[in-house]
Amino acid sequence: MPLTISSSPLETASLREREFALADDVVYLNAASVAPLAERARRAAASYNLRRSHIHELGNADFEATLQRCRQAAARLIRAEPDEIALMGNTSFGINLAAQCLPLEPGSTVVVSDREFPANVYPWMALGDRGVRLEIVPADRDGWPDEDRLLERLDRGDVSVFALSAVQFASGFRADLERFGRFCRERGIFFVVDAIQALGCVPLDARTIDADILATGGHKWLCGPFGTGFVYVRGDLYPLLEPRVVGWTSMLASEDYDAVLDYRWEFRSGARKFEVGTVPFQDIAGLTESVELLLEVGIERIEAHVIQLLDILVVALQDLPGVEILSNLEPRRRSGILAFRPRSVEAVFARLKAAGVLCTIREGSIRISPHLYNTEEEMARVIEVLRKRGR
Ligand SMILES: Cc1ncc(COP(=O)(O)O)c(C=O)c1O
Repeated sequence: MPLTISSSPLETASLREREFALADDVVYLNAASVAPLAERARRAAASYNLRRSHIHELGNADFEATLQRCRQAAARLIRAEPDEIALMGNTSFGINLAAQCLPLEPGSTVVVSDREFPANVYPWMALGDRGVRLEIVPADRDGWPDEDRLLERLDRGDVSVFALSAVQFASGFRADLERFGRFCRERGIFFVVDAIQALGCVPLDARTIDADILATGGHKWLCGPFGTGFVYVRGDLYPLLEPRVVGWTSMLASEDYDAVLDYRWEFRSGARKFEVGTVPFQDIAGLTESVELLLEVGIERIEAHVIQLLDILVVALQDLPGVEILSNLEPRRRSGILAFRPRSVEAVFARLKAAGVLCTIREGSIRISPHLYNTEEEMARVIEVLRKRGR
């Protein structure tokens, strides 16, 4: 399919100068694994730690207000309410929350698509000893989630939960979340979304997609610290869900130190009841900054920039003999990930690496994932390496 390359809407040079300390001799194209930490996120975490070492400088605002700012930023990102956000250490925690707290009886069925990242499989498998069945629906011939087959399966009347990645980790296939969300809602199926490969690059509105629970980690497209993330629990759902892992901070009594020893079994309002114990405040302060940075730049603009960079590559790849593009190039299926397979994946990957182009191999293909800090010149460098020996 011929592509027209538009111009990027981002001021990449100034963004790089301010926020991303990337080396000039390296082309970093691996945000889908780990993105660089945004400079302002690093500074926020470092300055928090500095106040912590000078402990008397740590003030009230360093605790609850720090967490609330992060919930607010996360809520803006997915157009939800801060009350619907619980801060979590990674995506897996959020998916486990869904698996443990949704009302699943013995005999209930959970459906996932084949080729889901395992973070969205094991937490459901773990319910096997409670008699909950996990059914993995095969991908289509191209290795993308087979949406028609999934819908057909969901329509049979016996499914309790459908859990899906917004963007598939290896091919970058963007799921039709709206369609699935509506379908699930109409049939009373809980819809759980793993959003880590989307948030920060692909716009996502928790209401429009009708997600019940959505989980993410902060270290990929959100350019935040390791060990940060959040889960969204739909507002009218969280009053019905009982935390299965309970911490003192889940409880209302923890808001008043004079009352902590009352051991009062009363949860905090909102999704905060799923937050357990003391958290990495310094990193959460960092995540707030990186999410705010992305919001300031604009997720739609980031998406347009990333697609534009990938298009430059797609056009070149389509000209190279023996190269197969595994990502779906339909506009509504695009994301920040592009997967392609030259005749010799290992050799081309080694050549890219030797030239300072850092990407990765997933599921037998080279996976490229640029972000807001990458430039057209960098894509030209990649193409030069790819063309060197043709394939
Ligand atoms: C789709 C998807 N989900 C989850 C994860 C990671 O999960 P966690 O944040 O729990 O490490 C990854 C990548 O590492 C991923 O690609």
